[in-house]
Amino acid sequence: MTLKLCIVKETTADEKRVAASPESVKKLTALGFDVHVEKGAGTAASLTDSAFREAGATIAENLAKALADAEVILSVRGLDADSLDGVKAGALMLGLLNPFGEKPRIEAYAKAGIRAVALELVPRITRAQSMDVLSSQANLAGYKAVLEGARFFTRAFPMMMTAAGTIAPARVLVMGAGVAGLQAIATARRLGAIVSATDVRLAAKEQVESLGAKFVMVDDDEAKNAETEGGYAKEMSDAYKQKQAALIAETIKKQDIVITTALIPGRPAPKLVSAEMLATMKPGSVIVDMAVEMGGNCEGSKPGEIIHKDGVILVGHRNLPSLVATDASTLYAKNLLNYLTPLVDQEGGALKLDQEDEIIRASLVTQDGEIIHPQLKSAA
Ligand code: NAI
Repeated sequence: MTLKLCIVKETTADEKRVAASPESVKKLTALGFDVHVEKGAGTAASLTDSAFREAGATIAENLAKALADAEVILSVRGLDADSLDGVKAGALMLGLLNPFGEKPRIEAYAKAGIRAVALELVPRITRAQSMDVLSSQANLAGYKAVLEGARFFTRAFPMMMTAAGTIAPARVLVMGAGVAGLQAIATARRLGAIVSATDVRLAAKEQVESLGAKFVMVDDDEAKNAETEGGYAKEMSDAYKQKQAALIAETIKKQDIVITTALIPGRPAPKLVSAEMLATMKPGSVIVDMAVEMGGNCEGSKPGEIIHKDGVILVGHRNLPSLVATDASTLYAKNLLNYLTPLVDQEGGALKLDQEDEIIRASLVTQDGEIIHPQLKSAA
């Protein structure tokens, strides 16, 4: 028996990514899936219907045809609540579902009998590294954030010695040295900037320095304990925040580009750049606030907007990975493939979800008509 798997076209504004690549379609077909791609699903990511067809997929004329009898649905953002009519009960749907921000939609999935997997909840354990959508997308986002900074900056990044004079290298500060921040550092260095970076986790120091950037941080007793067991940052005390603000105020005056990436899981993003700090920056400086959708690291930045404030340009893109749609889709598709592969029971041709498996337990949010994820249940 062959299982039908479909890849849907995204409907969210400005979402250019698609949950498949020709390579993933080939591998899914080899795993035994009958792959259907909704017409035009990859167009915005330059992945054409004909490339998908050549890889072994059937092109479905519309969403209804793609969904009909599909056992597996691959998406970037999950299906809309009003397109669930044609979905087969028990179908497994994978996507970046934003389960804590989109509760009503998750309830609609439960009602429709879908088994929804929120890929952002996959634990960051060694076995799940190849399924880590947060890393694959944040890495590209960090890269693109620097390019967007360069786009709005009216000066050059590298030092240039020319007959008409010398151009000084740009100074870039990266705030938060996680996956996105480290890629931002590497990208800014490749463009020739002088880069410094800050974080509350002391563990970031070595990584920042190995990329050739200067590490700037408040190094007190609290900082030695700023990391959770999972490697994430904790919310810092008011005393620490004050010391950090003083250090940032001193550092930021000298910067041309600031890329902010600081996040604390389950909490609003820490405010790191105040309006007063902004006013001390040079005219034409650019801040790319990658945390903008979580409330922002910089005072005054707004999701989806480019704001000019005191001569500084605040860039608040909502979806940086979508601006690198081809690569973001290809890596994301690989993450999906790696999630699905162990679920395929080669003998019976069916899907087997081991409810005891740590990865399934953490990421499966609905099943048998109910929301089953413990944290989502307690939030209800
Ligand atoms: P994230 O997106 O949650 O946060 C970005 C960065 O902001 C982090 O480095 C965090 O420490 C920093 N930050 C938070 N509050 C701050 C503040 N007040 N001031 C300055 N910086 C602040 O982090 P991401 O990128 O998801 O990485 C989190 C951790 O997970 C890292 O330790 C990373 O190495 C680890 N990781 C582990 C993986 C694995 O084992 N499979 C895969 C990817 C990341």
